[in-house]
Amino acid sequence: MKFSRITGTGGYLPERILTNHDLEEMVDTTDEWIQERTGIKQRHIAAEGETTADLGTKAARLAMQMAGKTAEDIDLIIVATTTPAKVFPSTACLVQQQLDIHGCPAFDVQAVCTGFVYALATANSFIRSGMAKTALVIGAETLSRIVDWTDRTTCVLFADGAGAVVLEESDEPGILSTHLHADGRYEELLHVPNSQPSDTGDAQKIEAHICMKGNEVFKMAVNTLGRIADETLAANNFKKEDIDWLVPHQANTRIITATARKLKLPMDKVVVTVDTHGNTSAASVPLALDTAVRDGRIKKGDSIILEAFGGGFTWGSALLKF
Ligand code: COA
Repeated sequence: MKFSRITGTGGYLPERILTNHDLEEMVDTTDEWIQERTGIKQRHIAAEGETTADLGTKAARLAMQMAGKTAEDIDLIIVATTTPAKVFPSTACLVQQQLDIHGCPAFDVQAVCTGFVYALATANSFIRSGMAKTALVIGAETLSRIVDWTDRTTCVLFADGAGAVVLEESDEPGILSTHLHADGRYEELLHVPNSQPSDTGDAQKIEAHICMKGNEVFKMAVNTLGRIADETLAANNFKKEDIDWLVPHQANTRIITATARKLKLPMDKVVVTVDTHGNTSAASVPLALDTAVRDGRIKKGDSIILEAFGGGFTWGSALLKF
């Protein structure tokens, strides 16, 4: 059986930056509170008319460039997103259109903040079973469109962006294992009510916003991410000291620090971008990965754990050799 390996990464953040000081003008909050509780200093917000597919396409082009791939080489596109511009076509089909790729399968994966890990696991299975050779795996979000900008408990957290990887067939392992989980019983702790036209009877009047019981989500995230790190190491007979990098979902520095502690990893082995990116949901892991690849921290042959937790609840991880 073939393996799959990441051969290119890309990331894109919209131009507009919203700082904590900007938020102080919008809701009853302070830069100090936001930084202390979340680690976030600023986040990027998509321009009017800039879609999730636009962001994903830009990230994908950079990943293809790094991997030395053209449109003809791509035979699978998977986009993880919670914020598609349209109910259909899927964001993956819209990205395919923008990249001038025709004919290959293209579909979205919806697993909220764990979406990229789900998409990567899916693409890995396609490649290992011979159904694809060169996949584009993208996480892209315009979460700013489903945030209630009057709710200080959520609007300080979420942001827009996209990250992408090219995953290729390889004789040597890249992806060593993936671990996916979900438990739907926690719906009420983190969800977007009223997101279907039938709820209001009027498709033009949908007001769908993220609702979250932050404290409870926080506790679940810390416990769950600690457990999945152990599961991932055990599945590969890896010891904690075998890991070069942790690339976690970027929701909150306190959650990231707790997971790093559990893995006994010093913080200089953990990629942190939440301070400047905010929580970009499905885009956060590939954006963080791309950041550390492009600034030279992550090198070929490094052992990396990717992990994420999000609405559903969903959670997942991947262990890979870069
Ligand atoms: N500015 C100032 N005060 C705020 C605030 C803000 N932006 N948001 C909430 N507060 C207040 C609350 O109203 C509360 O006030 P009270 O004590 O007078 O009632 C107080 O701060 C503490 O609120 P609490 O919710 O207990 O804070 P917290 O320490 O749990 O931090 C989060 C809140 C959201 C930062 C934290 O719970 C968190 O990060 N949760 C996980 C969220 C997450 O990652 N979700 C996505 C998962 S993928």
